[in-house]
Amino acid sequence: MIIGIHDLDVATAHYVLDLDEMAQALGVDPAKYEKGLGQDEFSVPAPDEDIVTMAAEAASRVLSRNDRTRIRSVLFATETGIDQSKAAGVFVHGLLGLPHTVRTVEFKQACYSGTAALQAAVNQVARYPEDQVLVITADVARYAVGTGGEPTQGAGAVAMLVAADPNLVVIEPGSGVYTSDVNDFWRPNDSSTPFVEGKLSLDAYMDANVGAWDDLVAQRGLSITDIDRFMHHQPFTKMARKAHSRLAEHVGLPLGDDLIEQSMVYNRRIGNSYTASLYFGLVAQLHAGDALEGRRLGLFSYGSGSVAEFFTAVVQEGYSDYLHPENVTQSLDRRVPLTFEEYRDLHANYIGESDNVETPIVTAAPFRFTGITDRVRQYEARS
Ligand code: HMG
Repeated sequence: MIIGIHDLDVATAHYVLDLDEMAQALGVDPAKYEKGLGQDEFSVPAPDEDIVTMAAEAASRVLSRNDRTRIRSVLFATETGIDQSKAAGVFVHGLLGLPHTVRTVEFKQACYSGTAALQAAVNQVARYPEDQVLVITADVARYAVGTGGEPTQGAGAVAMLVAADPNLVVIEPGSGVYTSDVNDFWRPNDSSTPFVEGKLSLDAYMDANVGAWDDLVAQRGLSITDIDRFMHHQPFTKMARKAHSRLAEHVGLPLGDDLIEQSMVYNRRIGNSYTASLYFGLVAQLHAGDALEGRRLGLFSYGSGSVAEFFTAVVQEGYSDYLHPENVTQSLDRRVPLTFEEYRDLHANYIGESDNVETPIVTAAPFRFTGITDRVRQYEARS
């Protein structure tokens, strides 16, 4: 039996900040962001958006094309959860009107947990081949203003339906994994923004990349030439380039940038979407118009702290018939540009407490976060 991603779709936030605006306001050379970090823009949520509204939009696109009665689990991966107890996926389950006979749970380990959720989904289908599992990755990357991370913020969601005999990609058995207890990036319970050791995080990421690769080779006997395209986690796209050249050095073979180039097209415009970032990379690669049938993709997932996994996926015959690049184009192009001052105002007015609040109607998306009543988050489906 083959198991993998049968369908997928995306959503991002209402607003966008062009990094040239930020560069001008902060007196930074725009080339630092564009070339030094490899970023052009980032998505910024409106006050009536959050991980739940983006996740529900991405998932509703997937559900509109599939039989929702086959879904037995909703696995929601995020590191920017909206409650310490209740899983964000339960709100999504309600908004989408999924049957009660579904298991719903949240996964966390920084940016890595989307991959843990994906592998758990594959394992569930291996045991119960009739089941389908909805895996959702969604995050809002929000750093403190004036920090190195500020230009690498972003927001987005990718929803994936995992099933037997998938239309898009087969997730192959056997991953390379790597865990190392390192404090490169963390967010204590009483902070709405993370703390980052920037230089350490770059090294921790690259050590995990080669460590997970070596384990993949040990598990599967794969060679680097068995991989046709690479997708590395993209906190900013230059990071993927750095990891790719470090991996080439490690294996002692040249690995052209052409093997990663197309995976970075969407993330340059979305910014870091943490758990969703790798999967925006996958979507971009599949949308690239390359004839990828039968090709093997190598995916590197990294979550600070740190946990990493290198795994492979094989692209299915006819996959391009099941893609919807117009949804990504629409999500990106409909974003409303912000001035730097407007962006900083939104950043400062982030709703981080659970006091009663009614949010202004801003987003054009099909789901809204309408506010908080008696400490309960309220949502509405408009479609
Ligand atoms: P910084 O201080 O802004 O950057 O911090 P810098 O001074 O090191 O410059 C960045 C690059 O721009 C350098 O390139 C400069 O040379 C270049 P490099 O040498 O690295 O190739 N540069 C220029 N290029 C062209 N024209 C110019 C120019 N000026 C400079 N004029 C840092 C960078 C990554 C530390 C910061 O953005 C940060 O703290 N980001 C957040 C942490 C992060 O993303 N770490 C990545 C690995 S950890 C990870 O991926 C996990 C994560 O997603 C979270 C999770 O798992 O949950 C973050």
